[in-house]
Amino acid sequence: MTPELNEKIWLNFIAWLPSAPPSDNPLTLMQAYRDTLFAAGLSREDIHGHLDTIKREMRVRTDGWRAIFNNIFTAGGGGFSTAPNALLVSAIVGRRAGRALDAGMGQGRNSLFLARSGWEVTGFDVSDEGLAAARRNASEAGLKIAAIQCGESGFDYGAAHWDLMVFTYVPFRVEDPGFAARLGNALRPGGIVVVESFASETTSAGRRPVDIDPAALRTAFAGFRILHFDDVSGTPEWTREPARLVRMIAERPA
Ligand SMILES: C[S@@+](CC[C@H](N)C(=O)[O-])C[C@H]1O[C@@H](n2cnc3c(N)ncnc32)[C@H](O)[C@@H]1O
Repeated sequence: MTPELNEKIWLNFIAWLPSAPPSDNPLTLMQAYRDTLFAAGLSREDIHGHLDTIKREMRVRTDGWRAIFNNIFTAGGGGFSTAPNALLVSAIVGRRAGRALDAGMGQGRNSLFLARSGWEVTGFDVSDEGLAAARRNASEAGLKIAAIQCGESGFDYGAAHWDLMVFTYVPFRVEDPGFAARLGNALRPGGIVVVESFASETTSAGRRPVDIDPAALRTAFAGFRILHFDDVSGTPEWTREPARLVRMIAERPA
């Protein structure tokens, strides 16, 4: 595909988003777009090409995410877990509560769990609907969290600031060594990063925007103490079908 064609495919997708039916996760939203392309007369091969291009573009573009997740977070739920991430639940056992960051917090399932466990929690996300739900849920539970509307690239992680950082099912570059080094710098000594998402090799065709390459992730965090690492088939928290998942808890050496 030429850059011009990629751009056209992306812009058509962005233009369609406001009319997308309520979808309870990214997969059902993409299925709805596939149906739209099919109804418009595109061949199966062309549809496949369009969807692959969109998934690839989503890894590098930030426009689109707000509309996608505003749709999902107002659709009524059902297509993703609202319980705290089990790896995170296990990660804080025996740890003194401190300052936590929930990156791409969505509706704040992990933020609420951490606040309930005594942590001082900040989260950010581009989806105002996700943030509104997070603030509402926190207020109903009598919990305090800071929920900031911010794109990842504009968020200031600071230096030696966090005791815990959570990255669950987010399209951020955690497998990138430079990004991992930045997180290490933002953590207090002894602080941890908790990561869980879909897994695939960087060379795999049709990667989801939130896929992480397990080998690249391990390499990126080589300077950390790895407390937990899984590359397994499991039940993801953001679709219903079993999938290959990667899970990691990495600690900044004290
Ligand atoms: C699949 S959801 C995961 C939400 C949450 N981490 C969880 O596990 O429940 C991905 C989230 O990332 C957010 N997001 C995507 N791109 C973003 C960006 N560039 N900056 C901030 N948030 C972003 C979306 O709005 C969405 O809430």
